[in-house]
Amino acid sequence: MKIAKKLAAAKSKNRYESIDELIGNTPLVKLQSISEEIGCDVWAKLEMYNPGLSAKDRIALHIINTAEENGEITAGATLIEATSGNTGYSIAMLAAVRGYKCILTVTDKISKEKYDMLKALGAEIHVCPKDADPESPNSYYETAKRLANEIPNSFYLNQNYSTLNMEAHFKSTGKEIWNQTEGKITHLVGSTGTGGTLCGSGMYLKQKNPKVQVFGVDSYGSVLMKYWETGVYDKNEIKPYTIEGLGKNIIPANVLFEHIDNYTKVHDKDAALMTRRIAKEEGLLIGYSSGANISALYNYQDKLNKDDVVVVIISDHGSRYLGKIFNDQWMKERDFL
Ligand SMILES: Cc1ncc(COP(=O)(O)O)c(C=O)c1O
Repeated sequence: MKIAKKLAAAKSKNRYESIDELIGNTPLVKLQSISEEIGCDVWAKLEMYNPGLSAKDRIALHIINTAEENGEITAGATLIEATSGNTGYSIAMLAAVRGYKCILTVTDKISKEKYDMLKALGAEIHVCPKDADPESPNSYYETAKRLANEIPNSFYLNQNYSTLNMEAHFKSTGKEIWNQTEGKITHLVGSTGTGGTLCGSGMYLKQKNPKVQVFGVDSYGSVLMKYWETGVYDKNEIKPYTIEGLGKNIIPANVLFEHIDNYTKVHDKDAALMTRRIAKEEGLLIGYSSGANISALYNYQDKLNKDDVVVVIISDHGSRYLGKIFNDQWMKERDFL
């Protein structure tokens, strides 16, 4: 039997040769109570159903596969990345199964659950100060770059500036959403960190139907929305905030500002309360930034009509935040409860 036929036969039995074959093809589920309140159908794209529990599996797989094909990654290589945790998990998972070493730089904002998961997969972790200026030598970006320069046979994935990031979503997530909604999607709503998920998927959807609207979600404390509004990188926008993954203090190459039709910001508290509400009302334990995306729908309500078909990105799984937003003590300490 030919290899492709063999793989298809195994897939039809839900049987796989390795974990990377499980990446992608995540489900779309209607949010019942949210659809009712917003006044149109709201579907959740459940990226937490990837084997690494987040959308980042797609970009890690695409960047690593491409680098292997180009000969940039060879046997015994060390994979290096600066990450808020999810990309790191995906890289560590693929490094484990393909026999590479994995070094990750994170900030001290990382949840304990994310840190412990990275460790469990065998990654070497360097914790850097979250408030470090992006260009300072001890920022998590510069630390990753330095390690990549110092370590022989290493490969820096560079999710912020490698446009393979959005290409991964263009080729997979966007296409899946188009097929899952049978081309009926009118609005894609999602947060921007590197920008890859929203802009890559959005670009595909706009190519299929230029009327599809791409609505971004940013955090208070990030520079992205102001840059979209004015074209100015304003360092005064940078402030501490608690939501992980969305927002940036740099302008990544994967945020395609021209493809974003609207932008809004969400407060830490509103996002946290919405994330908890979704667990209780929809039975979905989603991550903190996903709660921000759903919370943002209420900012966008006056731009939505009853026949619209909205897809909201659920970037990762809530198990990564049990010690934070799902912990009453953590919530009370911040006046969120
Ligand atoms: C939890 C979470 N939400 C949202 C995002 C933003 O996704 P993207 O980087 O594709 O813009 C990230 C990225 O790090 C993330 O980890």
